[in-house]
Amino acid sequence: MSNGGSGRNVVVVGATGAVGQQFVQILEQRNFPTKRVRFLASARSVGKSVTFRGKEYPVEELTEKSFDGDEIALFSAGSGTSRKFAPIAAAAKCIVIDNSSCWRMDPDVPLVVPEVNPQDIFKARKGIIANPNCSTIQMVVALKPLHDAAKIKRIVVTTMQSVSGAGHYAMEELRLQTADLLAGKPAQPKIFPHQIAFNALPQIPQSNAFEANGYTSEEMKLLNETRKIMGDPSINVTMTCVRVPVFMAHSEAVNIETERKLSAADARALLAKAPGVVVVDDVARQQYPLATVAGGTDPVYVGRIREDFSIANGLNIWVVSDNLRKGAALNAIQIAEVLIKGKSGCGCGCGH
Ligand code: A2P
Repeated sequence: MSNGGSGRNVVVVGATGAVGQQFVQILEQRNFPTKRVRFLASARSVGKSVTFRGKEYPVEELTEKSFDGDEIALFSAGSGTSRKFAPIAAAAKCIVIDNSSCWRMDPDVPLVVPEVNPQDIFKARKGIIANPNCSTIQMVVALKPLHDAAKIKRIVVTTMQSVSGAGHYAMEELRLQTADLLAGKPAQPKIFPHQIAFNALPQIPQSNAFEANGYTSEEMKLLNETRKIMGDPSINVTMTCVRVPVFMAHSEAVNIETERKLSAADARALLAKAPGVVVVDDVARQQYPLATVAGGTDPVYVGRIREDFSIANGLNIWVVSDNLRKGAALNAIQIAEVLIKGKSGCGCGCGH
């Protein structure tokens, strides 16, 4: 893909999905420079349409011939689809920004959060750039300035993740179960293994979740992806991921232990000037980040910043962000924006 110049030929894969719909909205909201846009999904969606910049576009079926002339493909159609079609797109000289977990740990595929490691965007040796897991993205945006200042040794995190992270059918399941239970009818779990309405499920994802060590694959992503994005394999992470009956935005209780002491005031000051972060931390007025406020917005909100009095150098913070936006579609589009600006525009000071 050449740098500079005008709009790009952009294709969205999984355009009918929860993240796919966000791709469409955010491309429009950020005035992403496009020459041609196309919207792909499975054969099931042929006949549907997508409205982009006031114009109707037909949803086309994803096939092996889909990528002719495309320059940037935004994928969010599951790992199986990415495993098969991302290399096909890349072979057609179309850079893939993939929201699935399929390519994230491949050493030839950069795993990027633009506020943290924008320089890695230009190391896409397979023509594929991976978008990290939603809970990892918001956590590393908040932790990067603290890591730079005081070097994080260990992270203990509990996530409270919204149902939209499980896709558009999962959102429908929460709606239906809530209505059924309020009407005195039993909940009927289909996507989730148990009732999600009025409940908290310590299992993400909803199928094939548990690994031999007893952790879920979502939990292990928080360790492996954090190390890769931060470029620091010495950071230790221990975690519990919980699905909660919230439609949009993930909340995280994050505890860190640092090599050097950071006071709560130091951390607040660092976070206040960190890119992509908004500090909401006024407990006297009961002000702290909330999923209901974060949903539909771009920032990573951080609050409840306080020292951990149980260890010498520790902090507790509360981190909330919209998982479909910063946790998925927005982060991918920010990667595309850095890509089209070129190396000099990556803002990392790396001087490529
Ligand atoms: P479709 O709506 O036609 O099934 P979500 O994560 O919200 O469930 O959305 C998944 C997205 O990925 C949808 O747009 C879905 O399209 C698309 N998708 C799923 N499987 C395939 C496939 N095999 N080929 C193309 N698109 C797919």
